[in-house]
Amino acid sequence: MASNSPAPVGPVPFLDTEKDDHQVGSDVPPFPLPDDHEHEVVVVSELPSKLLAGIPQISLRRYQGFWLPESWVPAAVSIQRRFKPRPDDVIISSLPKCGTTWLVALAFATMARHAYPPSGADHPLLRLNPHQCIPFLEGVFLGGRGREERLEALPSPRLVNTHMPHAMIACCSRVVYICREPKDMVVSMWHYLRTVHPQLSLQDTLDSVCGGASRCGPFWDHALGYWRASVATPDRVLFLRYEELLRDPAGNVRRLAQFVGQPFSPAEEEAGVLGDVVRLCSLDNLRSLEVNKTGIVGPLLKTPRKALFRKGVVGDWVNHMTPEMARLMDDVVAHKLRDTGLHFK
Ligand code: A3P
Repeated sequence: MASNSPAPVGPVPFLDTEKDDHQVGSDVPPFPLPDDHEHEVVVVSELPSKLLAGIPQISLRRYQGFWLPESWVPAAVSIQRRFKPRPDDVIISSLPKCGTTWLVALAFATMARHAYPPSGADHPLLRLNPHQCIPFLEGVFLGGRGREERLEALPSPRLVNTHMPHAMIACCSRVVYICREPKDMVVSMWHYLRTVHPQLSLQDTLDSVCGGASRCGPFWDHALGYWRASVATPDRVLFLRYEELLRDPAGNVRRLAQFVGQPFSPAEEEAGVLGDVVRLCSLDNLRSLEVNKTGIVGPLLKTPRKALFRKGVVGDWVNHMTPEMARLMDDVVAHKLRDTGLHFK
């Protein structure tokens, strides 16, 4: 790998920075609500609330125009108050079920390729779930277990993940957003949530997304925030689409590498490093790994990790939605995105 500049140190697998050995490779424990006084000004119980349609166990609160899971509101407040972005941080952002896990894996494999060659038998992605490789901002700022200190101590460039809207992380200078055709997002979300809430209907999931009160919704405002920022400042926000990533993974990883300031050199391309990254992060490879067949994703939903890796195709909505459902979603999209320049085919 010919390169004139020194290889960057970060990102390093976040879970490996966990001191408490018995947690390495196991699930994150339930997030404690912060017990400090940072949140006195925002009284969570006074914010507008709704239950997630079909899942009364999940309560949402409207904070700064977005419906966040109630337990994430203190984290959203803390992120805005205490997160100290560095100029070379890379933030991966998305709404749930838009290809986050894949993009996290691709970004980690790309940015860490000097320390961890993607064809290596000891690559972290072979023993860790992609979400264990990089910090999730909401989880970090829910506090406990020294997570904020660990985030601070990470070597640069750091790679972090969030579902927060753009306005809450607008101070970050390099953000990669991935969005997905909304009907496929809804179907993916329904399958995912059903693993823990089998009673959930597709109609409930569709209604919550179309009504705006889904996790980190309204989805149109979430996507538009990043879309507009990517148009206004393309050097700060890279706007990716799941469908495009599926159509041309190598081309999009090349764009990603360029955007984060680590383009693949001709020698790396020649040596097949880009192809190795794509193969390492392919759906078939990730879902075949033991670490991704076991355990749960996180404490909020307690969904099994294997549910992160389902079908991975474009247009699966036709197998599940009635024409009326599809029309409802398309009408909402047409109405909310009219004259914005953001389209879904
Ligand atoms: P489907 O449910 O449509 O199959 P997220 O990571 O944001 O939760 O998104 C999950 C969606 O991304 C799921 O879509 C999942 O199958 C798909 N996915 C996960 N890993 C992938 C990969 N390596 N390549 C392509 N798609 C992937």
